Amino acid sequence: MRTDSPVTISRQDYRPYPFEIESVDLQFDLDPTRSLVHSRLALQRLTPDAELVLDGEELELVSVKVDGEVLAADRYTVDAQALRIKGLPEHCVLEITSACNPSTNSTLMGLYVSNGNFFTQCEAEGFRRITFFADRPDVMSRYTVTLRGNKAAYPVLLSNGNLLGERDLEDGRHEARWEDPFRKPCYLFALVAGKFAHVERTARTSSGRNILLQVYSDPGSEDKTLYALDSLERSMIWDETRYGLELDLDRFMIVATRDFNMGAMENKGLNIFNAAYVLADPDFATDANYSDIEAIVGHEYFHNWTGNRVTCRDWFQLSLKEGLTVFRDQEFSADMMAASLSAEEAASARAVKRIDDVVTLRAAQFPEDAGPMAHPIRPESYQEIGNFYTATVYEKGAEVIRMQQTLLGVDGFNAGLKEYFRRHDGQAVTCDDFVAAMESVYQARHPGKDLTVFRRWYRQAGTPRVTVTLRHDAAARTVTVELAQRSDKVGVERLPGEPDKQPLHIPFAIGLLDQTGRALPLRLAGSTDAADTVLLELTTERQQWVFEDIADAPVPSLLRDFSAPVIVEYDFSDAELALLLAHDTNAFTRWEAGQELASREILRLTADQAAGRPLSLSASFVNAWAAVLREPTLDAAYRERVLALPGEKTLAERMTEVDPVALAVARDFVRAELGRQLAADWQAAVDNNQTPGEYSPDPIPAGRRALKNFALATLQAGQVAGAEAQLEAQYAAAQNMTDRLGALAALVQFGEAAAADRALQDFYQRWEHEPLVIDKWFALQATGRRTDVAAVRKLADHPAFTLRNPNRARALIFQFCLNNPRGFHAAGGAGYRFWAEQVLALDALNPDVAARLARAMDRWVRFVPALRAPMRQALEQVRKHPGLSRAVTEIVSKALE
Ligand code: PHE
Ligand code: ZN
Repeated sequence: MRTDSPVTISRQDYRPYPFEIESVDLQFDLDPTRSLVHSRLALQRLTPDAELVLDGEELELVSVKVDGEVLAADRYTVDAQALRIKGLPEHCVLEITSACNPSTNSTLMGLYVSNGNFFTQCEAEGFRRITFFADRPDVMSRYTVTLRGNKAAYPVLLSNGNLLGERDLEDGRHEARWEDPFRKPCYLFALVAGKFAHVERTARTSSGRNILLQVYSDPGSEDKTLYALDSLERSMIWDETRYGLELDLDRFMIVATRDFNMGAMENKGLNIFNAAYVLADPDFATDANYSDIEAIVGHEYFHNWTGNRVTCRDWFQLSLKEGLTVFRDQEFSADMMAASLSAEEAASARAVKRIDDVVTLRAAQFPEDAGPMAHPIRPESYQEIGNFYTATVYEKGAEVIRMQQTLLGVDGFNAGLKEYFRRHDGQAVTCDDFVAAMESVYQARHPGKDLTVFRRWYRQAGTPRVTVTLRHDAAARTVTVELAQRSDKVGVERLPGEPDKQPLHIPFAIGLLDQTGRALPLRLAGSTDAADTVLLELTTERQQWVFEDIADAPVPSLLRDFSAPVIVEYDFSDAELALLLAHDTNAFTRWEAGQELASREILRLTADQAAGRPLSLSASFVNAWAAVLREPTLDAAYRERVLALPGEKTLAERMTEVDPVALAVARDFVRAELGRQLAADWQAAVDNNQTPGEYSPDPIPAGRRALKNFALATLQAGQVAGAEAQLEAQYAAAQNMTDRLGALAALVQFGEAAAADRALQDFYQRWEHEPLVIDKWFALQATGRRTDVAAVRKLADHPAFTLRNPNRARALIFQFCLNNPRGFHAAGGAGYRFWAEQVLALDALNPDVAARLARAMDRWVRFVPALRAPMRQALEQVRKHPGLSRAVTEIVSKALE
């Protein structure tokens, strides 16, 4: 393992590349232990005397030719990072031959072997592990690719774009030639070679072109790719209907691999996917798996325009493509969920999607934004770009796009997107360019307004807090709402070069209810129209708005639909929250009121638990949950979201010092008491939400299963008589994985040990041969409340466990360290020592994945002192390890700063 000395790269240091690489012709002789890559580059020097610097890592340089002549050794230098050539003419053809070893490439970046097949992963900086090249997104070229390999071992040879031809060669080899008609940066290059089965379908675009859609996977698994293929077709249609964006290729391929660092990758015309987001059938995939497949297939497909046709100038602009594309996949999923439902059901389905996205944001992004890795959605600096594929860039980035849609309106936003493509199709651009395109439409439609203040979202880290004050004037029949924002003292103060936090442009949607829970029509002073919801635009530190004609003091419904990624501070009484939970017409804030009630309850009990006081659930809280269970109008999916308790990561952010074990105990106590005290209601929810008949992952049946399984698990949490028998029966008779896994999870979490073990054993035997299910088996145990460090070590010794497969590592090690507070944070620090060992072991194989595990300790300063000390020790142990990768070094040093 090499020792990287950390170098900080700054956004301000961007310089254009001094050469244009007009075309790239690549020839691969594929061999698992020594693949030869021949690269022919047509170069144009743009700056006189510029030296050509081509990135290259872990490559063996075989030869360099300029315009057909072998280049003398004194004309170039090559080291572990780059090939440098001075004195090139203004135009020339450079030919480089190099070799790499895919079979020992455990980083899964560059060219690697998985299950006997070849795959590539180039984003962000993997292409330099394939050949010497200007590995940066603003160098765009046209590619032709020739793949050669043994025909029996590698019958399928794929690359980007269109197939030009295939032919057989001597010695049992064959070759395929591909051409990508579009200029692209090298991070979008891909090749795949090996044994695959595929399914395909021809789809017609709105302009009448026929497109071949294909999904490739291991032979024998092709019948499990149909949902992915359907999702691909739906994505294609959706992007045409919603945004008028048509596919620009004749052929679009998805290939599944078992070994992949992330979810999937948008290589032009040849998306490579983690098999977890391609393969599904009702027997072995859950409802959640189905919706992830749809979302990720959509996400990668949508990148074809937002990311590929218009790409990033440099990696600081990552959110330009990721925030926008996450926003697009969220909208796609919401539209798919709402499709073919009644108006009311559709509204509820959309609210459920919004809730799920906000839950993710709060659990993953808010803590990040308040921790040592905090960064603006457009970071100012990095040491390892791989560490910046974050919840901030992706999820907060999507919120920043969503706010632009909120400010411009859907039509305005669509027009802005159109303008963005009109200006920048075929270019590598910046986040500023995107906002400028939106702003041109905004200014045209809202004279006098601009996005100057809004742009600060791109350069300020931290979650802003918005404090709300409400004053009712009975004589004047007015309500004055004051919003005040604060971004200081939030997040980190030491971002290099960051100026003082300034006020942001915050779209803040608000409603008012009267004391009986009726929605009040809102009319701002000076305006004539009344509405249920009003969008306030906070652009300075503090602003006031006056609503007229309001007789009695109202209850506010704040930040409807989560109109901005902020934390709202308002002193609701419990009674007001109960009123909102019962009556708010906005489904999002209605849910939010319940979450706030539950948070208060759990945090109060956590303090009791930590202080050794007896725990007792308040009757008003039980009543609020009973009312939700009994309310006749709520659909199952939404009801389940309302009843579910806020997650530990979100709750922890509200504690001054986190005692994770006390928090877990308190939260489980609430669940158990709800189960025990409302047993009849939970049982009714179980009985009323059966889904007989053929399985469908659609939102209505999926919502029923979610509610039913949540209710059953809650009964079991409360140790209600008969619950365990029901779980065992459901486990045995389940007709789909959602029900089987739901029952198993509840047994593992809340059941008697012997019953859990029996079911776990059965599950293993049933699914021994499907790695994706064995991942679930590991994950369930990793998060099980009986699983301590010793148990996790035992699981790590299981013959089916390997650190080399990222999905498997995530299922066991990540799940334990991130989602098992009792086991991981158990007194004594054994969990932290285990973490350190695993980070180091992974780092030797795959630094990107190791760095993600390293982040499990990000928030160590927030924990109670007894945990802080051993956490720090473990971090220091990792930091001082010789040969630590640049990726892990960046994470642990920032954590320790
Ligand atoms: N660009 C991919 C996506 O968001 C994510 C990814 C990044 C995959 C880096 C692999 C490596 O769609
Ligand atoms: Zn993406």
